[in-house]
Amino acid sequence: MIRPAELIQRKRDGGELEPDELAELVLGYARDEVPDYQMAAFCMAVFFRGLSPAETFALTDAMVRSGDTLDLASALGRTVVDKHSTGGVGDKTSIAVGPVVAACGVPFGKMSGRGLGHTGGTLDKLEAIPGFRVELSEEEFVAQVREVGLAIIGQTGDLVPADKRLYGLRDVTATVDNVQLIAASIMSKKIAAGADAIVLDVKVGDGAFMKTLEDARTLARTMIELGERAGRRVACLLTDMDQPLGRAVGNALELREARATLRGEGPSDFTELVLSASAHLLAFSDLGIDEAEGRRRAEATLGDGSALERYERWIRAQGGDPSEDVLPQAPVVRPVEAPTGGHVHALRALPVGIAALELGAGRVRKDDAIDHAVGVVCMRKRGDAVQPGEALAELHAPDEDAATASAEAVLAAYELGPEAPPERPIVLDVVT
Ligand code: URA
Repeated sequence: MIRPAELIQRKRDGGELEPDELAELVLGYARDEVPDYQMAAFCMAVFFRGLSPAETFALTDAMVRSGDTLDLASALGRTVVDKHSTGGVGDKTSIAVGPVVAACGVPFGKMSGRGLGHTGGTLDKLEAIPGFRVELSEEEFVAQVREVGLAIIGQTGDLVPADKRLYGLRDVTATVDNVQLIAASIMSKKIAAGADAIVLDVKVGDGAFMKTLEDARTLARTMIELGERAGRRVACLLTDMDQPLGRAVGNALELREARATLRGEGPSDFTELVLSASAHLLAFSDLGIDEAEGRRRAEATLGDGSALERYERWIRAQGGDPSEDVLPQAPVVRPVEAPTGGHVHALRALPVGIAALELGAGRVRKDDAIDHAVGVVCMRKRGDAVQPGEALAELHAPDEDAATASAEAVLAAYELGPEAPPERPIVLDVVT
């Protein structure tokens, strides 16, 4: 039997733990035999001392073994691909990528999460659709992926309970933003959910966990190594989160934008990310095509109506009404006007995410209710020209007072200058 205090001390002093010691600690924590205070001290020791590659894999493997695992590939008899984002502002990528990949004939079954803080969650966005069910049983999930080619649901059963507890603990002990802990947390969930190949979207910048490209590359390499040790293929897109993704931030607003993108009418940065992620997923699939052909097929689905048709079938299959008219609309819609003319030099993602949160689009505490109608639409983004008095953004608010309060914050997120800044692509790098 391990003594947690001994392991905490060894990690605190820069030593290395054996795989079975880490497994006992993590599985003991998941069974409630190791108390929160010891696990919190352990996380803080890891925060300062880090984990070796062998320790990171042992932690991930123990987290996977803490609960159920799913074997979607065997159930479907197909190669199953999955995507995951490290979280950002305006990130509705899965809602558009799922229908594109499914329209190309590749099954897409994904378990998503809810938002906490300034980053939104896919499940919250989908719940803006009246009637949409995010809770399907495992059998319903598999049947829907088989019949419709696509399902996105909340986590079923008891997948990686150790991460659920550990993430909650890290959140309140300032130990979230450590590369090895983030990598183990994300990859344990992806491995347990059973995909053969995974495309990870690692966000970089103001609105992301990883503030620099260098840190994002380290996280990407760590996750790729964990995936490969577990026999999965992994590619990481490092993507810009200095400004919000696309224009819309807020649940129903983002769904409208995802829908427009599936008709080929989306903002250019978001469309590019959807195509790039889809191309990598298709290249990992059992279609036997490369990324260039994957991109060609993905593009075709946006032009010929098949991605939108698949979206509508998917939403109906999960009990929702896929038309745009049923999405909730905020009672107050007000522009944020440019005080001077020029070009947008910066549009910081974090304050826009916080403004949307304060309008009611997200939750501060786990049990807060969400207002699906509200949010911010960024009409001008980095590089765009604007005349004095033209709209930089549009606020969708529950009332006039809330609109007034967020107008100042959104205006402060913009930095205007006389010339257009150098272009920065949405996909900054791909690590494989
Ligand atoms: N997302 C996760 O699932 N886990 C982390 O630790 C950070 C982001």
